[in-house]
Amino acid sequence: MCGIVGYIGPSEAQNFLLEGLRRLEYRGYDSSGLAIVGRDGTLQVCKAAGRIDTLAGKLRKEHLKGSTGIGHTRWATHGQATDENAHPHFGGEGEVAVVHNGVIENYASLRERLIKAGYEFHSATDTEVIAHLIADCLSKQQAHSWDDQHPHGRFAPLVVAVEQTLAQLKGTYGLAVTFREYPDVLIAARLGSPLVVGIGVGEHFLASDASPLMGWTEKIVYLSEHQLALITPDHLKVIHRDKGDVQPHFQILEGEATSMDLGEFQHHMLKEIYEQPNSLRDALRGRLLEDEATAHFGGLNLTPQQLRQIDRIVFTGCGTSFHAGLVGEYLIEEFARIPVEVEYASELRYRNPPMSHNTLCFAITQSGETADTLAALREMKRKGHATLSICNVVDSTIAREADGGIYLHAGPEIGVASTKAFTSQCVVLATLALYLGRMHHLSFAEGLRLIESLRSLPDLVEEALACNDQVRQIAEKYYECDNFLYLGRQYNYPTALEGALKLKEISYIHAEGYPAAEMKHGPIALVDQRTPSVFVIPRGAVFDKVMSNLEEIKARGGPIIAVANEGDKRVAEVADDTLFIPKADEFLYPILASIPLQLLAFHIAVLRGCDVDKPRNLAKSVTVE
Ligand code: G6P
Repeated sequence: MCGIVGYIGPSEAQNFLLEGLRRLEYRGYDSSGLAIVGRDGTLQVCKAAGRIDTLAGKLRKEHLKGSTGIGHTRWATHGQATDENAHPHFGGEGEVAVVHNGVIENYASLRERLIKAGYEFHSATDTEVIAHLIADCLSKQQAHSWDDQHPHGRFAPLVVAVEQTLAQLKGTYGLAVTFREYPDVLIAARLGSPLVVGIGVGEHFLASDASPLMGWTEKIVYLSEHQLALITPDHLKVIHRDKGDVQPHFQILEGEATSMDLGEFQHHMLKEIYEQPNSLRDALRGRLLEDEATAHFGGLNLTPQQLRQIDRIVFTGCGTSFHAGLVGEYLIEEFARIPVEVEYASELRYRNPPMSHNTLCFAITQSGETADTLAALREMKRKGHATLSICNVVDSTIAREADGGIYLHAGPEIGVASTKAFTSQCVVLATLALYLGRMHHLSFAEGLRLIESLRSLPDLVEEALACNDQVRQIAEKYYECDNFLYLGRQYNYPTALEGALKLKEISYIHAEGYPAAEMKHGPIALVDQRTPSVFVIPRGAVFDKVMSNLEEIKARGGPIIAVANEGDKRVAEVADDTLFIPKADEFLYPILASIPLQLLAFHIAVLRGCDVDKPRNLAKSVTVE
């Protein structure tokens, strides 16, 4: 979802800004733009609906010269994806430029007031209101005489104007502001939408997540809620709304820019699918303890005694992360015998479920920035529950606000459709089930068996990836179908939901995931020769039951694609097409079966000519409600 970049220093701002925007493309966007303060006292702008390549094409013709600037990728909330609605937006007579992530809920009344005061609007966005408000407050501040000794020096009117503006806004924002008359300053402010400042030598960078900063600097500062940053080439001042000047908390940026490169692949999604043996190894690294037949997590911040007291667990998340939570429900109830509930974060944040004192709430999230998940976490904290996160992005808002947590260590996930983060979430949940299980019912021998299975998983995933060519052939057969059913039971019911979501997200085909037996109560009416059913049917406790469901679809003439165990002739004889995964402990099948399902969605989307890594209307990181 929307992305922000900013630069101030000795170099041409456009270079970092444009590259930074490209690094933010993965978040999902529909237009982009830059504003640069020229050395000749102008505030120049270039904006374009569509891809960043369109913006880059325009910039080749009208290079923006100057060393202070801001840039933005927009994901439309208020107003369509047009050049006019793209950020930056200008305030007053063009003396202020603003880029904004988030949503201003009271923008309509503010807009009305500003129009009455004579301000002219050029877009349908909520952001333009912020730009005019800053310009309005600034003109009033500049009318005052300012003490030269003011702690914010000659930038005091700017800081006060921004602060006065923020006080009038209801909603969420990550903001970056430049001023035509002040080419040597950049102001950023945060409430609800993340911002990170990169520290260079005689220069500063700004971005809405750390990915654009990789390779430019290693020293960073995350802004916290209600903080404002006054940034000049040589100095960073952080001011809190209530506490005044605060000491910035410097951190080292980990990761490399190269991890975002495509390498030999043409799509990030395929690259990330193939990274899974390694991302799973990284998720397990140092966490399995054979000596005690249990697991170890460094960051839970709860003692084993406190954890033993937990009598209920709530997993919350959105999209794919919610599906991982469902896998976790099966795992934890099975191995640890603790009741688990899985709630959509967008529902949990407004629900008021009765919760026992000893409920532990886990926010599951790849990005750590999803607005609904963050709100649900905060609501659980407000109620006094212990909150933990299972998160990929280190130091993201959710990782920082939770009382503790578990990192996935999956590396940057760029493809909008989550793949490696999902399987890492599942393996972390399985490891957590082992850990909690060993505190309750699991014997030493059972613990060891689970460890052995988990250790074998990365190699099994490697084997599962060998089906890629066969998946492509199957995709060729079915890619023109308009509807798909995905069916599985028990552990593989969430796998079916996730398989359907993958197809929907990137190929725009209608797909429904269902518990296999439940299809008799509705979806079976959809079955015809052009509606394939994808069955997740490895051997296990419910194999025969799922086989009956499969026969029921077959009897009604529906094509069947099965994901079954290597060499399973019984399935292969009935299904039209069978994809094989290696035999494994049953609890690993949600991970193993996801591999062919991810590949199937990928190949179908490619055959349909879809933009796999940047599917229409979707965003990687959904930072609005
Ligand atoms: C968006 C993404 C999904 C993701 C969901 C939750 O909808 O497109 O791929 O599963 O957000 O994101 P999170 O970062 O919280 O896991």
